[in-house]
Amino acid sequence: MRLAVISGDGIGPEVVAEGLKVLTAVAPDVESTPYDLGASRWLRTGELLPETVLDELRQHDAILLGAIGDPSVPSGILERGLLLKLRFELDHHVNLRPAKLFDGVQSPLADPGPIDMLCIREGTEGPYVGNGGVIRRDTPQEVATEVSLNTAFGVERVVRYAFERAVARPRRHLTLIHKTNVLTHAGSLWSRTVEEVSAEFPEVTVAYQHVDAASMFFITDPGRYDVIVTDNLFGDIITDVAAAVTGGIGLAASGNLDASGTHPSMFEPVHGSAPDIAGQGKADPTATVLSVGLLLEHLGRTEQARKVNAAVAFDLSTRDPKAPIRTTEVGDRLAALAGG
Ligand code: IPM
Ligand code: MN
Repeated sequence: MRLAVISGDGIGPEVVAEGLKVLTAVAPDVESTPYDLGASRWLRTGELLPETVLDELRQHDAILLGAIGDPSVPSGILERGLLLKLRFELDHHVNLRPAKLFDGVQSPLADPGPIDMLCIREGTEGPYVGNGGVIRRDTPQEVATEVSLNTAFGVERVVRYAFERAVARPRRHLTLIHKTNVLTHAGSLWSRTVEEVSAEFPEVTVAYQHVDAASMFFITDPGRYDVIVTDNLFGDIITDVAAAVTGGIGLAASGNLDASGTHPSMFEPVHGSAPDIAGQGKADPTATVLSVGLLLEHLGRTEQARKVNAAVAFDLSTRDPKAPIRTTEVGDRLAALAGG
């Protein structure tokens, strides 16, 4: 397996080191190549993602990314120039974000019940395309727009992926989350697409919720969800809520997939670079390790993925919730459990 590794900024390198520890414990054939991308490169050289680097990244089977961001870089530069650029250039149209409440993990909800949802966020369209503009800037008449792009092709492929995942799960339930009562054009495209594709998946039951109502049900009744499909921006927001109710972003994993397999997919914890705790060895690497599990699953290494996930499940069920996290200790434990 040829793996490109972008450790990034802040706690990125710390959690990625543990992710690699666990990965090599189950998959000794990994050849990893580090790529220096992120805030420190930009601050040093002004470079974000040179074309030559992007070409090299394309030559890999997968990418593991830690976190990108630094308080000394103005907001939007690394996001648009690096992270979103990777997602768009590599056609990561499926942003896969499972949210499962593991045994032994404390949810902030008093009585959460079982939670096991698979959020599928569209990754290459919506308001993230950067199709906007501003006129009369810095005047009282300033007008700013951000156009949400939704194509039949883009919606269909992510909806189809969601149905394929839903039909393979025990509950076979899919919820479309949108705001069709206000965003009537995009909403209609999403609803019609779900309806059309559902004809090919008669075993899957389908529900629809507006994103505001869904945000409430994520808190009051998260157990109702199985697979969720939604657009890029709604997906960004609701997956943070889903992470919060299942134990926090320290446990939230994600995969940016090119489901067609043309370009390498990229796996990253949902959390950011957490500069406030960087360098202290106290970041929880579990989200990165679970992202490694998604990576293995995506590459068809089902047994290796199962070992990683089982190691995390065991570790979480036996953790002392009051003991402070030590990044390397969690990684050592998970590597021993997964590799043993
Ligand atoms: C995420 C992040 C990114 C996003 C930001 C950093 C651009 O919030 O991965 O969820 O909005 O997708
Ligand atoms: Mn986000």
